[in-house]
Amino acid sequence: MGLGTWSFGGGEYWGPQSQADVDQVVGRAIELGLTYFDTAEMYNAGASETSLGLALRGRRDHVIIGSKVSPANTAPAVLREHCEASLRRLQTDRIDLYMVHWPIHADSIRHFTKDEAVIRQPPTTRDAFLTLAALQREGKIRHIGVSNFGVKQLEEVLALGVTLAVNELPYNLLMRAIEAEILPFCRAKGIGIIGYITLMQGVLAGDFASFDELPPIRTRTRHFSRRRAGSRHGETGFEVETMAALQAIRAIAREESVPLSDLALAWALANPAVNCVLAGCRNLAQLEENTRALRIELADRTLGRLNTATEDLRQKLGPNPDFYQGTSHTRIW
Ligand SMILES: NC(=O)c1ccc[n+]([C@@H]2O[C@H](COP(=O)([O-])OP(=O)(O)OC[C@H]3O[C@@H](n4cnc5c(N)ncnc54)[C@H](OP(=O)(O)O)[C@@H]3O)[C@@H](O)[C@H]2O)c1
Repeated sequence: MGLGTWSFGGGEYWGPQSQADVDQVVGRAIELGLTYFDTAEMYNAGASETSLGLALRGRRDHVIIGSKVSPANTAPAVLREHCEASLRRLQTDRIDLYMVHWPIHADSIRHFTKDEAVIRQPPTTRDAFLTLAALQREGKIRHIGVSNFGVKQLEEVLALGVTLAVNELPYNLLMRAIEAEILPFCRAKGIGIIGYITLMQGVLAGDFASFDELPPIRTRTRHFSRRRAGSRHGETGFEVETMAALQAIRAIAREESVPLSDLALAWALANPAVNCVLAGCRNLAQLEENTRALRIELADRTLGRLNTATEDLRQKLGPNPDFYQGTSHTRIW
């Protein structure tokens, strides 16, 4: 299990986040044996890296830091500057795993920058990854990774002779798209998988009767109707199927006497093709709760029941893990 630090530093998406909580969470996570800490330059405009860097003072050598460069910042000279800036914010001389946050093309870049010139003429994948390889040779980064890359996009990078350590992707009971193509491909090529959004940002942890009770920011994926606030996928959604899957998962949790969030995390941890499962923890209570899942070993029968309970939804959502954009304008291929 790795620690997701998107909320660190506080910001528009997750709201305020105190450094005192971050210090406690990071310290206790290390005590509990967590070694991987996941951040990105775009999380709260660098504040997540800064906050993590502060919390890791004096214990940096105990952990593996993963950070991500925005695809908009991958032209060679820009990439070098942004890597240096991340190093400074993290107060370290090397980033253990440096990922390109999303594939490098106009449709994904427009979510990271308003600079029309970069959107019109994005950096090339070749230039970006050859620069990353140079940064690796220089010791600024230890491993090169990607995030949200599909099979064709991975093939393009591998053809450059670059070794990819990791592909970081959404993976939870209600988001199983990667199982179809990306996971088997990565496994065959020796690319590790880090799963994010394991608790579906709280949907797989909370007790609510209707999706209307969720903050709008959590109902923008293709599971939900395009009529939900902030939705941009333009599709009908699968709210009935999503609620049915959730109710079935909740019933299994009750029968097994396991809290829902533990079940969701333990299910992801049980997949041998997933090397690391992230949990976003904002305070000590969430960290203690989420790491409980490390002590749970679900029986094959329970895993089978969970897979069956979510199979219909998996089929309906299809094999594309871009859950925020419609299948006709996906950013992942
Ligand atoms: N590579 C990428 O494109 C990408 C995208 C997204 C995330 N990530 C990474 O993955 C990490 C985790 O993903 P995520 O933060 O989106 O989602 P997540 O881990 O599914 O959900 C985390 C959120 O759920 C709530 N929560 C956590 N534990 C809980 C518990 N035990 N009970 C109830 N609520 C709980 C917290 O929010 P509240 O307290 O506010 O409810 C927390 O911030 C991120 O921090 C980031 O490092 C990567």
